[in-house]
Amino acid sequence: MSTSRRTVLAATAAAGLAATTLGTATQAQASSRPSHTPSKEYFGTLDDGTKVYVWTVANGGTRLQVLSYGGIIHRLETADRHGRRANVALGFDNLADYVAKSPYFGGLIGRYGNRIAGGKFTLDGTTYQLPLNDTTTSLHGGTKGFDKVPWNVAPYTKGSETGLVLTRTSPDGEMGYPGNLKVKVTYALTARGEWRIDYEATTDKATVVNLTNHTYYNLSGEGTGSIYDHTLELAASRYTPVNSALIPTGELAKVAGTPFDFRRTKVIGADIRKANQQLLYGKGIDHNWALDKGITQTPEYALTLSDPASGRVMKIHTTEPGLQFYSGNFLDGTLVGTSGHIYRQGDALCLETQHFPDSPNQSNFPSTVLRPGQTYRTTTLHTFSTR
Ligand code: GLA
Repeated sequence: MSTSRRTVLAATAAAGLAATTLGTATQAQASSRPSHTPSKEYFGTLDDGTKVYVWTVANGGTRLQVLSYGGIIHRLETADRHGRRANVALGFDNLADYVAKSPYFGGLIGRYGNRIAGGKFTLDGTTYQLPLNDTTTSLHGGTKGFDKVPWNVAPYTKGSETGLVLTRTSPDGEMGYPGNLKVKVTYALTARGEWRIDYEATTDKATVVNLTNHTYYNLSGEGTGSIYDHTLELAASRYTPVNSALIPTGELAKVAGTPFDFRRTKVIGADIRKANQQLLYGKGIDHNWALDKGITQTPEYALTLSDPASGRVMKIHTTEPGLQFYSGNFLDGTLVGTSGHIYRQGDALCLETQHFPDSPNQSNFPSTVLRPGQTYRTTTLHTFSTR
């Protein structure tokens, strides 16, 4: 068998099709297209009359549901070691709860992921004031960030990949940020069931940008309890310690000898109750790690999250230099999730690939400035397997 024919068959088998039913390479190529094209259903209506849709994308064993409101990952379904599918992302079963109560479940975060101290930064001599929505800081783009606005959604299929392209222009001055920012976010599912996010943005005035996704993962399944038994390997020797407002002090501290050392696979709950000032500030883990790989042109390895109970494993590769690991500390038993279960502290974790928090005010952190003529581009790849 020629190499190219073997490749085609491998891709086809990965797409969930029986290679034995295929005759020629041409047939194989044709069938390697995803068996499912993205489809949409009505989900609800916003107060201003905007209709919100839930889009379904499926490929290679992974199924993703995305809302046109906030670019929210509503459901993410993957198989366990017995091939049983479950939704591994926290969310709500209705639009009203997403609008009124969501702690950023699945949200597309912008313009700036995580906190900016005092909601203030100075760029080219001009100081910009952003809304304060988290004590003294501006969090996740302000009071009405990218997770709380409607997006244009267009489905696509390209070769063996399928997905959604979300676009929106954030007007000059929105949430205090300068520049008309044109944003394009692609949620792709590959033939192997990988979920890739490509972020792109351009501006007509110098501004700051830091886009990420705020999916809350529980690899045992949403609403099944705590993630403290999940294990994590995180390729980062340093993290950015914070003050009591969860703003980085500016130090790139070594993880060695601290509860923040995940360089070797560790159970998430292992050190979470250690009497450590940083864990007190975060009410658990709510910190940014400086990934050893730094900024890369193509996605490189960041972490492996694994759930011994279901056997589900998720790996993340990214072009970004940082990772906010949040252990669901503020989930306090006041929200009822997608499957009708109450969410409690530690019932999920977020793994937000990003530039470091408060970079606009920290000259020693990699820059988040975007200027006219430049294109902001980052990619994060999630791969799913079982053991
Ligand atoms: C981020 C922050 C947390 C918290 C969550 C949302 O991960 O770092 O402090 O605000 O978002 O609840």
